[in-house]
Amino acid sequence: MPTGKITLNLINVAKRFDPLDGSESVDVLKAITCQINERESVAIVGPSGSGKSTLLNIMGTLDRPSSGHVTLDGQDLSHLDDVQLAAVRNSRIGFVFQSHHLLPQCTVLENVLVPTLASKDKALRESGESRARRLLDRVGLGPRLSHRPGQLSGGERQRVAVVRALINGPKLLLADEPTGALDRAAAENLGQLLVELNQEEGVTMVIVTHALDLARRMDRVLELRDGSLRAYRADNTERT
Ligand SMILES: Nc1ncnc2c1ncn2[C@@H]1O[C@H](COP(=O)(O)OP(=O)(O)OP(=O)(O)O)[C@@H](O)[C@H]1O
Ligand SMILES: [Mg+2]
Repeated sequence: MPTGKITLNLINVAKRFDPLDGSESVDVLKAITCQINERESVAIVGPSGSGKSTLLNIMGTLDRPSSGHVTLDGQDLSHLDDVQLAAVRNSRIGFVFQSHHLLPQCTVLENVLVPTLASKDKALRESGESRARRLLDRVGLGPRLSHRPGQLSGGERQRVAVVRALINGPKLLLADEPTGALDRAAAENLGQLLVELNQEEGVTMVIVTHALDLARRMDRVLELRDGSLRAYRADNTERT
C-alpha cells in the first residue's frame, strides 16, 4: 500500500523533439505535473505515439526533460551530471522493457547479478547472489538458475528481467509494455507477479501498458493524451 510519502515528483515536465530535417518541432509532453507515492503502483495508458515511453524514460533518468524538474525521494535530478544519473539509475531504479535484453551467453543467475557488479554498495554485491536465488525462487525459476535465456519461454525470460530489475533493491520499478510480447496466459501471469512484488518488495511501480486489464490492477491509472497526463476514465478513449 502507498505510504503517502512522495517518491517521484514531476513538476512542469515538458519534452520537445526537434527533428533534424528542419520540419516542425513536436511537443510530446506539455508541462506535466504528477506525484507518485512511495510503494504506489501506477499504470500509464494512452494512444501509440502519445509519449508514454518518453515520459517513462524521463522518470527513469534515461532522458532529460526539455524543461521542468523531476525529483526522486526529494532529490532534484536536473542538477546531476550523466555519471551521477547513471549511479542513481543503477542503485535506485529498475527497468523492465518489452524485450528482455538478457545476455544470451550468460545463465539466468549471472544475468540477474549483472547490475550488482556495478554497485558501489559492497554489502549489496556480497549479498547479491543469495538475494538473486531468493527472488528467482520466488518467481518460480529456482530450478532454472543455470539455464541460458534461449532455453526459457518468453514469460520466463520476462520474469528473469523483473528479478534483474529488482536485484539492487530499487526504490522505483519502471516497466514499458512488460507484457507486450507475451501471449495472454503469460501476460496474466507476469501481471499478477508484478502486483505481488510491488507489495512484497515495497517498490514503487510505474507501468506503461496497452493492456487495460493489467492497468486496472494498479492503484491508479493515468492516461497520456495530447501531451497531458490525467486520471484515466473509460470514456476518455472513446473521444475522437
Ligand atoms: N528521439 C526522438 N526524436 C524525435 N522524435 C521522437 C524521439 N523519441 C520519440 N519521438 C516522438 O515522440 C512521440 C512519442 O513517442 P513515444 O515513443 O514516447 O510514444 P509511445 O506513447 O511510447 O508510443 P507506443 O505506444 O507506440 O510505444 C512520437 O511521435 C515519436 O515519434
Ligand atoms: Mg512506447
